[in-house]
Amino acid sequence: MKIGIVVYTWSGNTLSVAEKLKERLDANGHTADLVQVKVVGERQQGARDFELDTLPDIDTYDGIVFGAAVEAFSLSPVLGAYLKKIGSLAGKKVGCLVSQQFPYPWMGGSNAIRQMRKLCKAKGATVVGSAVVNWAKSRREKTTKAAIERLAGLF
Ligand SMILES: Cc1cc2nc3c(=O)[nH]c(=O)nc-3n(C[C@H](O)[C@H](O)[C@H](O)COP(=O)(O)O)c2cc1C
Repeated sequence: MKIGIVVYTWSGNTLSVAEKLKERLDANGHTADLVQVKVVGERQQGARDFELDTLPDIDTYDGIVFGAAVEAFSLSPVLGAYLKKIGSLAGKKVGCLVSQQFPYPWMGGSNAIRQMRKLCKAKGATVVGSAVVNWAKSRREKTTKAAIERLAGLF
């Protein structure tokens, strides 16, 4: 299956999980591309005023994993804006990934996933699963491993 992993990352945390996911998907016999959503110029940490750069083309993927950070108990507004702007996701299997710092999913991760699922469904996607990675040092390795198992197992 041709799979796109489409992430927005500010400090590289979500990106590093996405890199491991790509390795796993490729090892499982898929063809996975890792593409980043970018803004024009530098974005200040947490800024809500930004301009999306050229959108990565995702038409060719059968499956997509979208990923981003939790910001202020919500999905990063950059990925939110991106998901509102893209075309149809009809016929595509979609997984959702978020990373967060605080220890429990109810501290933003679950809400961010809910928002991401809703935006993807509004574009016609079949959302098949999701994962929250916790970046606190004591939980990072365990939650990253679990997220990769979960998301790679969707395709
Ligand atoms: C402006 C801002 C707001 C944040 N808000 C939350 C939050 O509400 N809950 C949480 O658990 N982590 C929060 N974080 C931490 C990030 O979600 C976490 O560091 C994430 O792994 C960053 O991913 P990235 O490097 O891919 O952007 C916030 C970080 C920033 C910069």
